[in-house]
Parts: sequence; C-alpha cells; structure tokens
Amino acid sequence: MDSKTDAQRMEKIVSLCKRRGFIFQSSEIYGGLNGCWDYGPLGVELKRNLKNYWWRVMVYEREDVVGMDGSILMNRAVWKASGHEDTFTDPMVDCLVTKKRFRADQIEPQSGTVLHFNGAVDEKLLREAFDYSLGYLEDSKRASVRQHYERCKHLAELANHPDPDVKHLGERLLAQEAQPFQSDEPFSVLLKKGKPPESARKVAIEFYQLRGLKNPQLIGEHTEKVENTTRYNPQNGSLLTEPRSFNLMFKTYVGATEDDSSVTYLRPETAQSIFVQFKNVLEVSRKKLPFGIAQIGKAFRNEINPRNFTFRSREFEQMELEYFCRAEEGMKLLDYWLEERLKFYENIGISRDRLHVKTVPDEERAFYSKGTYDIEFDFPFGRQELEGVAYRTDYDLLQHQKASGKSLEYFDEETKQRFVPHVVEPSAGVDRTVLALICEAYSEDEAPDEKGKMETRLVLRFHPRMAPIKCGIFPLLKNNNQLVAKAKEIVGLLRAHMNVFYDESGAIGRRYRRQDEIGTPFGVTVDFETLGEKDAALRDTVTLRERDSMKQKRVAIKDLAGILSARIS
Ligand code: GAP
Repeated sequence: MDSKTDAQRMEKIVSLCKRRGFIFQSSEIYGGLNGCWDYGPLGVELKRNLKNYWWRVMVYEREDVVGMDGSILMNRAVWKASGHEDTFTDPMVDCLVTKKRFRADQIEPQSGTVLHFNGAVDEKLLREAFDYSLGYLEDSKRASVRQHYERCKHLAELANHPDPDVKHLGERLLAQEAQPFQSDEPFSVLLKKGKPPESARKVAIEFYQLRGLKNPQLIGEHTEKVENTTRYNPQNGSLLTEPRSFNLMFKTYVGATEDDSSVTYLRPETAQSIFVQFKNVLEVSRKKLPFGIAQIGKAFRNEINPRNFTFRSREFEQMELEYFCRAEEGMKLLDYWLEERLKFYENIGISRDRLHVKTVPDEERAFYSKGTYDIEFDFPFGRQELEGVAYRTDYDLLQHQKASGKSLEYFDEETKQRFVPHVVEPSAGVDRTVLALICEAYSEDEAPDEKGKMETRLVLRFHPRMAPIKCGIFPLLKNNNQLVAKAKEIVGLLRAHMNVFYDESGAIGRRYRRQDEIGTPFGVTVDFETLGEKDAALRDTVTLRERDSMKQKRVAIKDLAGILSARIS
C-alpha cells in the first residue's frame, strides 16, 4: 500500500468533513489561510475525545506520569539552546514561473528531455525600433512609437534629476514605461514523456514574460536527456530555484519594540517546555526515575507546503510524553513505548493492518537520537507518519543545563549519584490522528430506504469511545406529545453520562442515516410500545439500534445509561 493512493476517497472525506461540520477551512469567508483549519461542532468533539483518552491512558492510568501545560511563547534562549533557531529548517525551492514553493526533499525524481533556452528577444519591439530608425514605419504607427520614445526620453531625464524624490519617481515611471527587448538569462523546462515540445516552449515564454518581455521569441534552444532529476516543477516542468534553507519557526516580537532583543517564536513542538520545567516538575511531583511528563498543546510550523487536508498544517496540536530514565534503560524503553503506542491506536479503533512501524535509519535520525520509530498509517493519500517514538538520550537536558547554567540533574537517593537523565519521547499529532480516525471510519455500504429499496449508506464507523455523539434519541412521531415528552426525558437521563442528540424531524430511517453519516454508534427510538399502548409489559422500553449492524433490540429505559456507558468506555 506504500504508494497506493485513493484521491476520490479523500475528496469524499474532505467534503463530508465540511458538510457535516467536522472541519472547515480557517477564515473561509476571506478565502482561507493556507495550512490552518477550524474544527466545527462535531470535529471539536472528536478531537476532545481523542485528547481525553490520550490523557487518561498516558497520565491517569499510570503512577509514573504527571502532566503539565506550558506557554506557547518562551524565552528565545530556549530555541537557541535546543538548536531550533539554527537547524529547524527545511530546504525550499520556488518555481521560476508560478512562484509556487516546494520542499526540495519532497520533489519526486523525474526523467525526460530538458529543453534549454539561452534567452529571448522581443522581436516585435526590436523591429519597431529598427523600422522607426530607418523611417520605414507607416505614419499612423510612427506617431505612437515616437510618442513612446519621447516619453521614455523624458522619464530618463527625470530619473537623473538631482532632487531624490523626482529621481525616484522618474525611475519608477521609467521602469513601467520602458520595455526591455532582450533577456540573456538561460532557462530550461523538463518535457515529460508524451508531451509536445510546444508545451515546454509555452512555459519558457511565460518565464521571459515575467522578465519583462512582452512578445518573447526564444533563442538558443537545445535539448538534453535527464534521469531522476529534482530540479524541475513536477506540475509544469519549469526550472526551480536553487534550494535555500528555510526556518520553520514563526517569528514574533514580545512587547512594544520590534527589534532583535524582543524576538521569539511560536513553539514548533511542546517538548521544549517540558525539558525546561524538568527540575520544577521533578521537585513538586517527587517522582523517581523512570517517570514521565505529558503535555497536549498547540505547535506552529511555517510549513513550506501544507497539504493533504489537515495532515501537514501550519498550526496543529501535539500530544507528547517525555519519559525520563537512566541511560541503560533507554533502548528497552524505546521498544516498550512503541508497543504502548500501537496498543493506543488499536484502542481508538485504528486497525493494526493499517499501522506500520518504520525503523528510522541512521542517516535520517537526529544526530543525538540512538533510536527512532515512526508509526505510520495508510491514509488515502499514501502511507504517512502519525507519531514518532524517539530515544533522545540526554541531549535536550544537557543543552538546557549548559545554556542556562542551571543544574538539571537528578539525585538518586539509593546510589547517591547525580546525573542528567535520558529521555524517550512518544510524540503524536492530534490533527493527524483525528484525520486517521475519520479516514479509517469512512465507509459506504448498502441499506434499505423507507420503501425497502437498497441504497448506498454513508457511515463513519467510529469506535464508540471516539464518536462525537454517542447516542441519537428519536420520538417516532414529532406531533405526539407523549412520545416527544418521553424522548426528552431520556435525553435528560443520558446527558449526564454522554453527548447525545435529539432529533424529531423527518422519517425515522432518514434520522438514522443522518446519525450514521456522523458516526453516532447508537440510536434510541421511543415508540407506542414505550407508552405501553400495545403491551403493558413493554411500557418504558425503547428500541436500541446499533449503527454498524443496524440491528435493533428492546431495552428498558432504566438500563440505557449502564448499557451505553459500558459500550462507550
Ligand atoms: N518533539 C518531537 C517532534 O515534534 P515531530 O516528528 O516533528 O517530532 C511529532 O512531530 C508529531 O507531530 C508528528 O508525528 C505529527 O503527528 C505531528 N506533526 C508534526 N508536524 C506537523 C504538521 N505540520 N501538521 C500536523 N501535524 C504535525
């Protein structure tokens, strides 16, 4: 499944997310903001369920982990010591025609023929000048060309004016007026197999137009065969700029002055606040090694190319655990945490078949890490990282100890030794996991409509633990006061235990479908049997419908909260 993708499935998922209120584009009414997303009424519930479950498993259910919540803005010294200011960069390249930006290391190698050009001339302009100078121009044309040259001459005088303001104005107007007629800048375009050379020439003409030539005629065309090159835009074949380093941290200023002394960054990971608070948390929690500090919070990265819906965003949330230990425990704990994290994903309904563990090879690992695993998931757009589990050694604490001059050592009461602990870090993305949950849950099957005719049913098969709404509650008829009152009574009863949704509009089958589409695992229908009209023994019972099997059974209202709570937790 490594390179298998399913664009159509992904399109359907994105559309469902918007239609049903899971995820919206940020600032949508203003055209959006690339790489930023808003979670709607259902999305926020799904996200909250995920974060709450992570916190429950990683903090509440363990003796050896405590939580914290650090600030997003921190002293710039943190980012200098951690290495982020100097090295948290990606190589970036720009398309010379569309200006679109790419991460150089994400460009797929391409093969084909490159069309090189030595430059271009604006022949029309040249000919006009030539004709004019030879006096060959028709009278009518001559007047406008003469006017153009007179204007340029006048502006050139202004551009040489001693008054700097006049000079500046003259230069600006001249640049607009005077047309360059030649560019000697070489340019090239990769022609993909099966494409006519004319398509590459069209791209080259666009390039020289951007250089100011109105009607460029390409010069010096020659071809070259290339294999596995990453120097060209995969979309239009245009040459890209040379790679440049681009720091992914969002820079900002703290306080009223905007100079170098007030610079800091929006945090690109939550981990650093854990490292810099290590000593404080250790002292107040009185934990012994090995122990962990967990945090869930926002992180920001000015990603060069945000893509695949929320997968690579500029603002996102992380769920990170820094698990401090002795050096000799590091590698063993790395494997332990990998297994714990895999179990977590299975417990939120992600099937083991779609999870993959990549052992990050030496050359791709951070230099300070002795071992890193990536937990990957088969998204419809390919297999991609959900979480990293890394043994970061004592690098982070040592860096901060050195830079701050404050001891970040641990004192072992038994051996009377002082040392800087090592750390194993499982670091997961909230947004990526939410996206994985939606992708995993999305399915289409067949179900009968009101008249018994089979139709396609769109259903999100969320694990009940993750589902935004746990139970839909429906009176069979909305114009029967007794049915409505009973249904509302059940809403009040269940609301104390879980998020429920009351719906009385439309045929009952349609109401079921609406809940199936947002992944509500259970539906309760209040009918005439509930009122005891048909059989007194059935009074105060309802039908409980399961989303996946669509099976219904009768249960007593008084048992509902217990039955559902057991299924949800
Ligand atoms: N403290 C280690 C760390 O931040 P990372 O691999 O850069 O490691 C950890 O990030 C996780 O954060 C990733 O596995 C991913 O789930 C999430 N993440 C990173 N960048 C992201 C982005 N631009 N958009 C969404 N999630 C992202």
